[in-house]
Amino acid sequence: MLAVIGGSGLTELDNLTITHREVVRTPYGEPSGALTFGQLCGMSVVFLARHGYGHTIAPHRVNYAANLWALKHAGVDSIVAVASVGGIRADLGPGVLLLPDQIIDYTWGRKSTYFEGAEELVKHVDFTEPFDASLRIRLLAAANTAGVQVHDGGVYATTQGPRLETAAEINRIERDGGDVVGMTAMPEAALARELGIAYAAINVVANHAAGRGSSEKAISFEQIEAVLHESMVRVRRVLGGFCGA
Ligand code: HPA
Repeated sequence: MLAVIGGSGLTELDNLTITHREVVRTPYGEPSGALTFGQLCGMSVVFLARHGYGHTIAPHRVNYAANLWALKHAGVDSIVAVASVGGIRADLGPGVLLLPDQIIDYTWGRKSTYFEGAEELVKHVDFTEPFDASLRIRLLAAANTAGVQVHDGGVYATTQGPRLETAAEINRIERDGGDVVGMTAMPEAALARELGIAYAAINVVANHAAGRGSSEKAISFEQIEAVLHESMVRVRRVLGGFCGA
């Protein structure tokens, strides 16, 4: 079964015909909320709002381990994660949709593995390609079916947040090879890999990253809201195109 994890601006899927909701208990504590089960264009889908349905959980406080465990437990074998980002590369301005293909992790202090119990053997998962190739191809096809333009590929730099970055931090991230910056791909992608769940992401560029373009002096939150609102309409169309893809 496919899961959609919604980020800022996507706390529900209005094209999902809801069948039921389920509160899942996990060995890692509470997930961000109940899992919402339903049908999306005839396909069984489960939806989870990463920051809670009232958007109250900050990126560094999200219980990623519980979320991913709950989805696995529900029978999920692939996840499309929706996340808003700041655009670093000049061609990645507000409103662009992007399917990242790489990650750099700048987060700290988050539970980023299931393999840390005293009795558990250490397991090193391969993470050379952090996003699942065939799920990315299906998403590209879905975007194509839906007639929605998406950028194919990009390096997602994951920062700790919840504050936004300084201009110098963005310069450094760009030197490191980052194309967009967000706060949630890690440890989400790594935990999915540890559980054997195929994981791909759709990024919505909500703003120019700090110090760039229209964010040269400051990042405007009103602008972010407006961009996310408009862009999530296209994200929902891509997800709706998934069944035909
Ligand atoms: N930085 C980090 N995360 C973000 C941003 C940003 O500029 N915009 C949306 N999520």
